[in-house]
Amino acid sequence: MPSSNDTTPLSLWQRRLSRRQVISRGSELMFISTLPSGYLLAQQNDSQLQINFETVSPSSADKVVVPNGYHADILLSWGDPLFPGIPALDPDTVARGDLMLPAAAQHQLGQFGYNCDGMSLFELNDEEVVVCINHEYPNPELLFPGYRTAQRAGMAGDFIHQNPSCVDFMKGTVGVSVAHFQTGETWKLVLNSPFNRRVTANTPMELSGPARGHRFFKGSLDNDGKQVIGTLWNCAAGRTPWGTYLTAEENIDEYFGNRRAAKFSADVEQGHNRFLPRGGESRFRWEFADNRFDVETNPNEAFKFGWIVEIDPLDPSKPIKKRTALGRFKHEGATTSLTQDGRLVVYMGDDEAFEYFYKFITNKPFDPVEPENNVDLLDSGTLYVARFKEDGSGEWMPLVWQQTEMLTSRNGFESQADVVLRCRAAADLVGATPMDRPEDIAVNPRTGKVYLACTRNSDRVEGEMEVESAGRRTQAGSIGSNPRGPNPWGHIIELSEHHDDGGSLLFNWEIFLLAGDPAKGQFLTSLDSSVKALDPDSTYFAGHENSSELSSFGSPDNLTFDAEGNLWITTDGDQPRGNNDGCFVCPTEGVSKGGVRQFMSGPVGCEITGCEITPNGGGILLGIQHPGQGGTVEESISSWPEGGDAAPRPSVVLVEPEDRQRKLTG
Ligand code: FEO
Ligand code: CA
Ligand code: CA
Ligand code: CA
Repeated sequence: MPSSNDTTPLSLWQRRLSRRQVISRGSELMFISTLPSGYLLAQQNDSQLQINFETVSPSSADKVVVPNGYHADILLSWGDPLFPGIPALDPDTVARGDLMLPAAAQHQLGQFGYNCDGMSLFELNDEEVVVCINHEYPNPELLFPGYRTAQRAGMAGDFIHQNPSCVDFMKGTVGVSVAHFQTGETWKLVLNSPFNRRVTANTPMELSGPARGHRFFKGSLDNDGKQVIGTLWNCAAGRTPWGTYLTAEENIDEYFGNRRAAKFSADVEQGHNRFLPRGGESRFRWEFADNRFDVETNPNEAFKFGWIVEIDPLDPSKPIKKRTALGRFKHEGATTSLTQDGRLVVYMGDDEAFEYFYKFITNKPFDPVEPENNVDLLDSGTLYVARFKEDGSGEWMPLVWQQTEMLTSRNGFESQADVVLRCRAAADLVGATPMDRPEDIAVNPRTGKVYLACTRNSDRVEGEMEVESAGRRTQAGSIGSNPRGPNPWGHIIELSEHHDDGGSLLFNWEIFLLAGDPAKGQFLTSLDSSVKALDPDSTYFAGHENSSELSSFGSPDNLTFDAEGNLWITTDGDQPRGNNDGCFVCPTEGVSKGGVRQFMSGPVGCEITGCEITPNGGGILLGIQHPGQGGTVEESISSWPEGGDAAPRPSVVLVEPEDRQRKLTG
């Protein structure tokens, strides 16, 4: 064993494990000490859940607003160096076009990335924490002068072709940052930490699980189908009880252009259906500088994206692996819990209108004693998709090759690899329920109930489901999981697994919240699953009866729970009163159940992401993603946080009570 002052990643990992205690109680496992709070099987007690803070009013100001008695400190902003010797980005130089110079792309590889989204905390000890943070996508119109003008003229591709280092720069803005903090009086980045790391669109990683080596992965860039370069569109996240980070690849289709021109073989065509839309130029036009993103030249490259990716933040020597057993779709996040016999459950949403809600259960239990036994646990297990029934019951349908006649060669599935690669098509065939854009999921540590944010779906209208010939769904009636069509503000579903066991294949479900403005439209105080065809502006807040105590909110996205069983909700998109996105808190049990109140408002143009409670329960980490989106370099609508003429900077903030002896909301 290394000595206790050895700070290599491996030695910290070993020391951390040696502090871990495990208590077995009947068939339940109870883990103490460094395990994330979500794995603590907290005992339900009757104490009334307390949340004390002054509700924040909806705001349109270009600033972060928190309740009186709280402060928001910026922990990291886009362009902050993560390593010694890397220069800090100067937001005043963006308007000069400095980010289009090759040096900027080089520096970005050592700086905190753009558009921070999901994140997870890994506690090293009482005073140090490693944080993994996703970077979802770049905003070229906020990075490069002239880009939006070129785009409006239909010349964005030419702009990128003439300035290829813009693509080099953007590749460094995305992926994941790993950052080590000391968490004393104020949090401080440890600049020379062995844990600090950037994972980008250039980082080599492996494909593992059933699809490793699949013919779809073989191409001009990789002849064995086992390697991949980079991770893209990293949205929400999760962490495993063995201390690894799960980053979810979501709208990866936005990176691949020129499908229209491509001549595919029939099976590749089938593989791309229900995922890669037909189209010409991609959203970011990377294909004009790198033909890896040109579907005509590299028809198989896109298959390497759209997965859950596992990173060991405390051991950079371990390969990063895309876990194909968990299926390929627009992965929103990966929220974990344990079955009663100790296997890992991963809940996952597919964020597109009328796509599905999934869970994966490992074959083997998590081993809390021997970390090596968990290394490839996510490669073997069963993927399920949810079917919601109108009577409030539901079923998890296995997506297993040959287990049903549907998932056989009859429908083009020759192996489990084909099932995970064409996961959406497999889910269609077993009768999964189309949802309103499933986003993040959180498991209540007090009750084990599972909460799913469905952000909104304006395409949902009355009537029968229609499916276009290419397999993209266009509309569905008010069936299954949602009583509102259209659904402009989104909703949150509460799901109870039978016997409170994540390993169960049966569940009950109900609508927990119908988001919107409780002061507008019909405010419902009761709702059962037989209610259908509600007006789009009707709201329901888990039976709460006093609409004047509630905050309006829409477009729920990232979720988390605090130890007291309060659900924290961050938003991404339209708000019912037209204000900026924010962070909201909602008790899920007790007399204040459903009492959504706004805790924070973000600056102009941003969405709020992250939403992770600090290990001591005293603060919350929130991401300010894409401040200023909607503007351009030339016509800026936000200069947060610097102000003046500075470019807006996506950042992670820590919100805490000014009195650090207080709990976050106590
Ligand atoms: Fe990346 Fe579905 O939000
Ligand atoms: Ca999201
Ligand atoms: Ca979450
Ligand atoms: Ca989002």
